[in-house]
Amino acid sequence: MASAPVFAAAPSPEALAKKAGVAWPAVIAHRGASYDAPESTRPAYIAARDLGADYLEMDLQRTRDGQLVAFHDDTLLRTTDVATRFPDRRDKPISAFTLAELRELDAGSWFNTAYPDRARPAFQGAKVLTLDEIIDIADADPENRTGLYIETKVPSLYPGIEADLKAKLISRGWLTPSGEVAAGHHVVLQTFEKASLELLAKEMPKVPKVLLLWVGEGSIEPESKVAFADSGIKDKAAYYASQRPASKEAFASWVDFAKAQGAVGTGPSAALTKGGDQSYMDLVQPWMNKLTHAKGLLVHVYTVDDPVDFDKVKKAGVDGIFTNRTAELLKFDGRPSKRSVQAILDDEGY
Ligand code: G3P
Ligand code: CA
Repeated sequence: MASAPVFAAAPSPEALAKKAGVAWPAVIAHRGASYDAPESTRPAYIAARDLGADYLEMDLQRTRDGQLVAFHDDTLLRTTDVATRFPDRRDKPISAFTLAELRELDAGSWFNTAYPDRARPAFQGAKVLTLDEIIDIADADPENRTGLYIETKVPSLYPGIEADLKAKLISRGWLTPSGEVAAGHHVVLQTFEKASLELLAKEMPKVPKVLLLWVGEGSIEPESKVAFADSGIKDKAAYYASQRPASKEAFASWVDFAKAQGAVGTGPSAALTKGGDQSYMDLVQPWMNKLTHAKGLLVHVYTVDDPVDFDKVKKAGVDGIFTNRTAELLKFDGRPSKRSVQAILDDEGY
């Protein structure tokens, strides 16, 4: 009698993560502990590190004099006093400023104004940080476990930034000279841009990479091409929630592209229960996560802050979460921080 064919079981997501050298489930501190301190500044990254995040997330851009810095927006207007310091260049990109000029800016006071319940006088005057300074913060982790999760932001503005990043990570000992993640270090590279993923893959083939997903221009083809302004929908989060991929194939083609470039995962958006300005398309529906896992890739969803949504996206099958609220996610994951974020910030002099 012929024996039944034997099929190897597909590796579990946890096994995929282990093979890729990626934390599972991953707690990714989005711009640091940015619910509790001004995003992408020293107190936000120190708090995320000391709470026990697996990764410090950052958006990498480059100054006019070639320095790598962490900054999210295309301009400095929302989170600094550029409008009063450099009124002529108020709406210019980071690439229009030297590092010395960026250092003159106050990247903390906006937070105190926007969130008086979380304000601290010492946040005033917080500086824009270089990648070097964030590496210093990670290197100072007494438990030696904090990783870096680095996004090339608007990479078309910064030709060669992928090579600059590689050189920096090697010079700081986070990558070996042959481009492997150095022992005891944890790095993930991320981008929304296919062209940047190709360059990251060329420069750093051995470093874990994630392709961020979105529905719309330059990303997954949408079912409807009606813009927000023409949609008649008042709330942007509601508009985003109404956006979906044109087809299963349109979604899958982006996962396939990520895989073809050697990425270890995708980073899809989520629609949040409360809405708000970080609530986007629901790209973590169970079928999407199943499809991604079946292709051997992990799913890291952005940006989720509330237990109701942690629960929802985890039940849908994600492997890691970008969060502004590191402490809340660690608690939800059953590994609460030893110290509160307030105690950490107090102890650090904030
Ligand atoms: O990098 C993941 C997530 O941060 C993407 O959104 O706009 O916050 O960079 P954004
Ligand atoms: Ca980012």
